[in-house]
Amino acid sequence: MKSSTRYVCDACGASSPKWSGQCVDCGAWNTMTESRVDLRRGGASAERKRQVGFAGAQATLKLLSEVEAEQSPRTPSGIGELDRVLGGGWVPGATVLIGGDPGIGKSTLILQAGALMDAQDAAVIYVSGEESPGQIAMRAGRLDVADAGIQLLTETELARIVETLAATRPRLAIIDSIQTLYSEALSSVPGSVSQVRECAAELVRFAKQSGVTLVLIGHVTKEGSIAGPRVLEHMVDAVLYFEGDKGERFRMVRAVKNRFGAVNELGVFAMTDRGLREIDNPSAIFLSQRASETPGSAILVTREGTRPLLVEIQALADDSSLSNPRRVTVGLDQNRLAMLVAVLQRHCGRTLGDQDLFVNAVGGVRLSETGADLAVATALVSSQLGRPVPAEMVLFGEVGLAGEVRPVQNGPERLAEAAKHGFTRAVVPHENAPKKGIPGLSITRVKRLEEALDAVFER
Ligand code: TYD
Ligand code: MG
Repeated sequence: MKSSTRYVCDACGASSPKWSGQCVDCGAWNTMTESRVDLRRGGASAERKRQVGFAGAQATLKLLSEVEAEQSPRTPSGIGELDRVLGGGWVPGATVLIGGDPGIGKSTLILQAGALMDAQDAAVIYVSGEESPGQIAMRAGRLDVADAGIQLLTETELARIVETLAATRPRLAIIDSIQTLYSEALSSVPGSVSQVRECAAELVRFAKQSGVTLVLIGHVTKEGSIAGPRVLEHMVDAVLYFEGDKGERFRMVRAVKNRFGAVNELGVFAMTDRGLREIDNPSAIFLSQRASETPGSAILVTREGTRPLLVEIQALADDSSLSNPRRVTVGLDQNRLAMLVAVLQRHCGRTLGDQDLFVNAVGGVRLSETGADLAVATALVSSQLGRPVPAEMVLFGEVGLAGEVRPVQNGPERLAEAAKHGFTRAVVPHENAPKKGIPGLSITRVKRLEEALDAVFER
C-alpha cells in the first residue's frame, strides 16, 4: 500500500510533513504525533474533504423516520456480572475496550469469558502479544478452561493479525494487549500513541465490516492516560475499566462508555486461586471488619449503577507541619474534599485548613457520586474530634456550597438496603426519607450539614 507519514498535532489537528517539538500552528509542545496517510485515497486533506462532502459527489440523505432501527442481537457472555456491564452480552461487530492496571485481572476475565463463548460453539481467537502460549496455557489450566478450544495466535504485527482474523472469522477476537501491536506502515515503536491508534482503528474497522466481536485489552499507566485506553475511548463502542486494589480480593469492572447499555454500571468479582468469581450480591462487601467504633470512620450507602452499596469511608485529620497541608483521597474526587473542607469551615465552624487530610473509600471502590459528601464530611469531623460515629449508623447526601444537604436518587432503596444489613440509624437529606419510614431504622432527616453533625455527635 502506498502511503506516507505525516505528523499531526494532537491539540489543534494541524499536520506537517516533518516532526517538530512545537506545533507551528498552535504553539503546543510535544503534541506532534506520527500518523499514516494512505496516498491511494488522495491524502489526508482530500480524505477529510470527502468526509465532509466537499469533493463534488453528493452523499445521499435519508429521512430518520425511514431508517430501520438496528437490532443488535446479543450473545450473553455467560458471566452475569460481565453481562451487566456490557449491557446484556457481546454485540456482533462491536469493539469493547477493557482497561486497567497491569496485574488486575484483565487477561483472566477475558480468558474465562472466551472459554464460555467457546462452550457455546462460537469460535474464539485469542491474540497474545504479551505472553507465550505456555504462559496462557498455564493460566487456562488454573482456570480449568484448558480444553475449551480457544485458538491462540501469538503475533504482534497488525496486518498479519487482521488477515488471520479475516480468514477465520471467529465470533470473538481478543487482542491482549493493544499496546503490543504494531503496524509496519509506521516507524514509531509499539505502544506509542500513533501505533496504538492506528492498530485500533484498523481492527475496529475490521470488526464492523466482518461482524466479529472485538475485545481490546489495554493497560493504564500510573498517570491514567497513556498511549492506550484513553486515546481509544472515542473509537470503540464500549469501554470497561477495572477498579480495585491489587492487594484486595475484590475487583470491580465499570462501564464508562457503552453504546449498547447503561454507563457506570458496576460488575463485582472476587479474585480467587481459580480465577475471578462473580459476586452477585455485593452490597456489603466494602464494609471493613470493624472490631469497635473508631473515630474517623463512617458508613455510606452509595449507589453504583443500579445497585446500592454500603461502603466504609475512613478519614484522618492530623496537625500539619506543612505550609500546604496534604489532601489525599483514595477512591474519591480530591476537589470534592477541598470543597467539603471549605464548607465545614464556613458553615460549621470546623477548621481543617491547617490539617493534613486523608480520605479513603475502603476496598478500592471508586465513588463517582456526590451522595458521598455527607459521609465524608462526617468522617473528617469524627477524626478531628476523636469521637466515633455510632457503629449502627449510615449516612448519605450531597453537600452544597451553602452548607445545605441535598437529596440524592433512590433514597428509600438505600435505606432499605442499610436496614437489611442490620443498621438501625440513618442520617439523610430531608427529602430522601420515605413518609412511612423503614422498619427497624430510625431516620434523622437533615437540611443542613451542621444539623447532620449535631445529630451524629449529639451536641
Ligand atoms: P492477569 O489476568 O494476568 O492480569 P492482567 O491481564 O490485568 O495484567 O491477573 C494477574 C493476577 O491475578 C496475578 O497477580 C495472579 C492473579 N490470579 C489469581 O489470583 N488467580 C487466578 O486464577 C489467576 C489466573 C490469576
Ligand atoms: Mg494480561
